[in-house]
Amino acid sequence: MKTLRDEIDMEKLPVHIAIIMDGNGRWAKKRFLPRKFGHKAGADTLENITKAADKLGVKHLTVYAFSTENWKRTEEEVKGIMDLLRSYLDRYIAKADKENIKIDIIGEKSRLDADIQEKIKKIEILSADKPGLNLHIALNYGGRDDILRGIQKIAKKVEAGELKADDITEEMISESLDTGFYPDPELVIRTSGEERISNFLLWQIAYSEFVFNKKLWPDYTEEDLYEDICYYQNRDRRFGGR
Ligand code: IPE
Ligand code: IPE
Ligand code: MG
Repeated sequence: MKTLRDEIDMEKLPVHIAIIMDGNGRWAKKRFLPRKFGHKAGADTLENITKAADKLGVKHLTVYAFSTENWKRTEEEVKGIMDLLRSYLDRYIAKADKENIKIDIIGEKSRLDADIQEKIKKIEILSADKPGLNLHIALNYGGRDDILRGIQKIAKKVEAGELKADDITEEMISESLDTGFYPDPELVIRTSGEERISNFLLWQIAYSEFVFNKKLWPDYTEEDLYEDICYYQNRDRRFGGR
């Protein structure tokens, strides 16, 4: 039987997919459960989707896990999310030798608890030589904050006399961002039916295609990923040309 997986044109597989994993709270609410259960289910979905993307041959997957604005949530919810993150990182660290994917964190790490920062360092070292998918987890990430920090790096070079303001190029700006040396996403998926960017990658999405999937993130499956990739592949990308 032909499945959606077979419909994907491997020649046109996106190199970089970015996902705004939204809808955990609503998923829990529908089940009369506390929000943290939605985040737990969402973390399980992340593991499934990462595996599926890796199997498919996607090179980069950037997932929005916690935004610079998400600190506005209750202390209880933020703590719940951070605890889930701790167990996610611990799980990877424990089975690192069997893992195939490379993990790094984008975002402003200094606001995260010291033990989480330690686990991040550990995971980045343990996974550095893995041959598979590069999973970039956006934590305390904001597109504006990313650009601000990038500009500060460049401004310091100007201040030190290493660079002239007129010589700043688009490439330098791209490289100064957290996504530094990997390509911009061809495809951005947002689940839960919301159709906004919520301060995710801003500079990097100049020519990305968007797919807004109505499914809540904990309900999102491998098949949904294949479907969204097919949908993307049927788009006509023009880049300003004709
Ligand atoms: C996304 O799910 C996860 C985070 C923002 C951490 P939400 O928690 O935003 O879920 P909804 O949007 O309230 O359903
Ligand atoms: C965006 O979702 C952030 C993450 C998925 C981590 P939000 O739920 O925080 O965004 P808004 O508030 O609906 O814009
Ligand atoms: Mg949300």
